[in-house]
Amino acid sequence: MKNPMKRIEKAVRALESACGKADIAIVLGSGLGDFGKELTNVKEIPYEDIPGFPVTTVPGHAGKFIFGDLGGKRVMLMSGRFHSYEGYSMDEVTLPIRIMSQLGIKNLILTNAAGGVNTSFPVGCLMLITDFINLSGKNPLRGKNMDTFGPRFPDMTNAYDPALREMALESAKELGLELQQGVYCWMNGPCYETPAEIRMVRILGADAVGMSTVPETIVARHCGIRVLGISCITNMAAGVLNQPINHEEVMETGKRVRNDFASLLKSVVDKM
Ligand code: HPA
Repeated sequence: MKNPMKRIEKAVRALESACGKADIAIVLGSGLGDFGKELTNVKEIPYEDIPGFPVTTVPGHAGKFIFGDLGGKRVMLMSGRFHSYEGYSMDEVTLPIRIMSQLGIKNLILTNAAGGVNTSFPVGCLMLITDFINLSGKNPLRGKNMDTFGPRFPDMTNAYDPALREMALESAKELGLELQQGVYCWMNGPCYETPAEIRMVRILGADAVGMSTVPETIVARHCGIRVLGISCITNMAAGVLNQPINHEEVMETGKRVRNDFASLLKSVVDKM
């Protein structure tokens, strides 16, 4: 990318004039696509109307930002994210986060579908992300540091904000929802992992694996945005059960638990 800052500024202007500002951003993972119906006073902008925004690889599934009110706050939803496995560059995958930063977002909730590595997790449970392991071999901050956003060597000690995690645990308790906690490991995809890889990441300390969230977390922390990460364990990771993994199962589990997921998100936004 020739001038990343120009690209970001242009997109921010388009987004702000269409939808205004927001207090909290939420990136919706697989299965949570219809969370937008929880918002009132909605304003939307499809990605294709944002100059400099990546062109999606799936025709007809362009994705959009949805701005609206929720629990007395202005919330910005990202419906449809960019994954590295689709061929997007790290700059493209994380462009939305830098845009959020320029829009003044201070709190970000990242959600995703993930495979369960921790064998005590039941399929369909929600997992509060406590930390990440980056096994992708990629880092979105590689290259000249963008000093406007943050330092060359940002700290990742509390990648997932302790205070926000506490709020999520409280919300789960109030709702009577079981919320697991664990470490999320980022794998490149798009193929699912092998059983040997899953045994490896378990030894390394991972509780779940997935193909997103970590680049967004790194860039958000670089910008000083507080991050909360929640995974839906849509399937047991490869080799845990004696059966293959398929995308349909992942989507179906996501749908099955979306009401719990939505209640948890609403309650956390309330507390933020
Ligand atoms: N592996 C990687 N990503 C995933 C999985 C998985 O098992 N399930 C949902 N996303």
